[in-house]
Amino acid sequence: MTNLISYDGEQQVFHLKNQQISYLLAVEDFDLVSHLYFGKAVENYHGQRKYPRVDRGFSGNLAGVEDRRYSQDTLLREYSMAGEGDYRTPAAKIVQADGSYALNFKFTGFEMFPGKPNLIGLPQAYVEADSEAETLVITSFDEVSQLELANYYTIYQDRPVIARSTQLRNLSNHSAVINKLASLQLDFAAEEFSVISLPGAHNKERQVQKEAIGYGIKKFGSRRGSTSHHMNNFIALEKGAADEFQGEVFGFNLVYSGNHSFEIERDQIDQLRLVAGINEEDFAWELNAGETFQTPEVLMVYSDQGLNKMSQAYHDLLTNRVARGKYRNAERSILVNNWEATYFDFTEEKLLPIVDAAAEVGIEMFVLDDGWYGQRDADNSSLGDWVVDKRKFPKGLNHFADYVHKKGLQFGLWMEPEMISIDSDLYREHPDYLMAYPGRTPAPSRSQHLLDLGRKEVRDNVFHQLSAIFDEGHVDYVKWDMNRSLSEVFSQQLAPSNQGEAFHRYILGLYELLENLVTTYPDILWEGCSGGGGRFDSGILHYMPQSWTSDNTDAVERLKIQYGTSLVYPPSAFTSHVSDIPNHQTGRKVSLETRGNAAMSSTFGYELDLTKLTKAEKQAVAEQVSLYKDIRQTVQFGQFARLKNPFTSNECVWQFIAQDKKEVLVMAFKILNQGQEPFSLLKLTGLDPQKNYQAANGEIYGGDELMNLGFYLPQQTEDFSSWLYRFKLVD
Ligand code: DGJ
Repeated sequence: MTNLISYDGEQQVFHLKNQQISYLLAVEDFDLVSHLYFGKAVENYHGQRKYPRVDRGFSGNLAGVEDRRYSQDTLLREYSMAGEGDYRTPAAKIVQADGSYALNFKFTGFEMFPGKPNLIGLPQAYVEADSEAETLVITSFDEVSQLELANYYTIYQDRPVIARSTQLRNLSNHSAVINKLASLQLDFAAEEFSVISLPGAHNKERQVQKEAIGYGIKKFGSRRGSTSHHMNNFIALEKGAADEFQGEVFGFNLVYSGNHSFEIERDQIDQLRLVAGINEEDFAWELNAGETFQTPEVLMVYSDQGLNKMSQAYHDLLTNRVARGKYRNAERSILVNNWEATYFDFTEEKLLPIVDAAAEVGIEMFVLDDGWYGQRDADNSSLGDWVVDKRKFPKGLNHFADYVHKKGLQFGLWMEPEMISIDSDLYREHPDYLMAYPGRTPAPSRSQHLLDLGRKEVRDNVFHQLSAIFDEGHVDYVKWDMNRSLSEVFSQQLAPSNQGEAFHRYILGLYELLENLVTTYPDILWEGCSGGGGRFDSGILHYMPQSWTSDNTDAVERLKIQYGTSLVYPPSAFTSHVSDIPNHQTGRKVSLETRGNAAMSSTFGYELDLTKLTKAEKQAVAEQVSLYKDIRQTVQFGQFARLKNPFTSNECVWQFIAQDKKEVLVMAFKILNQGQEPFSLLKLTGLDPQKNYQAANGEIYGGDELMNLGFYLPQQTEDFSSWLYRFKLVD
């Protein structure tokens, strides 16, 4: 037993604690479960933070309790229900057979055990040994409805991380309808907070937004059926004047890929409530007698040293305890993808010289993007028909894959298995597989429609089609794309009253399909994609260890996108490519060096026609490829820190320290050149102040010098300059 959780029976207080964090909750009089504290570790709790009793006007009291000072409406709670006298944003709303939904969950018991339970059918953080973590389950029961609530808390031994989720069990003889069941509720005592979120758009994912929290309810979320480009399923709460390097920060990341919401409410006495989980809009789940509903989990991280420390905790956790499979800790291949080189206009013959050129410059994988199957000459046909187009590959796909392999490269293949085109054999054969409202023409987006992955026969069809390709054994990598938001979400297998389940059942179906595929084909490296980063989340990461960050390949725009992405997700998990100029999304012309440095800041590749490069450019690409091979262990698996913020300055700088600490890399970018440009001082972080570091020019500096004095970045002479610094630890 690791002793991470203790229970003080006298005070009725639970304390989850490791070297870095403490989380405290209590059973109050009359068996309400209250929240006491989440933050920096404390050794012991002596009861000094017991919630004060005050009679608050218009705040509900407990049924059958005379004490008007015992208010549900202000008490810091662990989990509260709609319909009771707590008028703040509820964590759950469950409608019973008689139409009522006020529930009074009372604490009934708890369990503590080593390890972390498996959330069946859902992606999640895991442990490799039970000694890594300990779990607390708090059970509450509502007598009238016979519903049982279980709140799960897993604290890791060596991480500032707690995973939380919720289970609801129906022990009655009737069904109940879950209109909302959050993964977590977290109440904070009155202190000044601001919130950081990651809004965006297609080609503009995960922009960093920071706002003060005033009165009222603020909701961040997605109703698109996927995580979305528009609002990632992550927020951070910053206390007071926190920044990248200092102050208290609380991170919350939902391990899920569908509709989500993060609601924040500042209440009448300045306390804060956060409720996070599946978005209650478009959600209604019938829980029949004897059934249990399990929510996805939220990974909570606490940092007492600003956002960088929070991100480092997420990077380590997501890399090592959310991602799985043989590529989890493996260096990822440098690839060239033909999308921006050819779009749909290619044949085997046209691609061969690109493969040759890739081999010449040392690239390790060729990825065949959209357009190789059915009769796909544009984006309006063939989705669902995963059979090679013989017009483009007269000798079949394997013939081309063999050529790629013979050149010493791996072969990667793009697919979009969740979709169906009206102009497809699949639709002609199974029109009912397409998700649509009965009697209405379904609305297209990018001329395509969704398959109802909630249905087993649909998933089986996809699995068999893909297996037929993978069983041939030629595919080393798959790019799994998903190019529209969900609409008209209606499942033919569900009764009219159960249509509120369709969104979540789609995601559960997707997870089941992915689980079957990644476990049946463990040698394939899977890359997630959704028109770039439209479904970029830790749920997908559980199946696919990397994802395409954005369709926007402009190096300058990418700085912001990658900066925002790095708040939660590790550089190994997001992919970046050097593309052509003028850039296809923005028309901007950026030097090959800066395009290279931006893309080399994460999992790296190219997306241009290599045959069109000049001799000098080809040489420069070969040098980038060779440099990246040298630094990729540090980039992909080192400790990452953001030094300068492109959202608030004309610069963007980040840094990587190798796992063995022997190398430090700094990538620095200046965006626009300006008259009388101020000098920019760069200070590194996380080095050993007692040790020396040698720069590429042979100069030796102390770690303390590099961190405390820093050095000036060069003046730039043109827009979009960048510099890559390498320091070696001197033993
Ligand atoms: C969207 C992806 O993000 C692109 O990289 C490309 O694969 C296209 N889809 C192909 O349709």
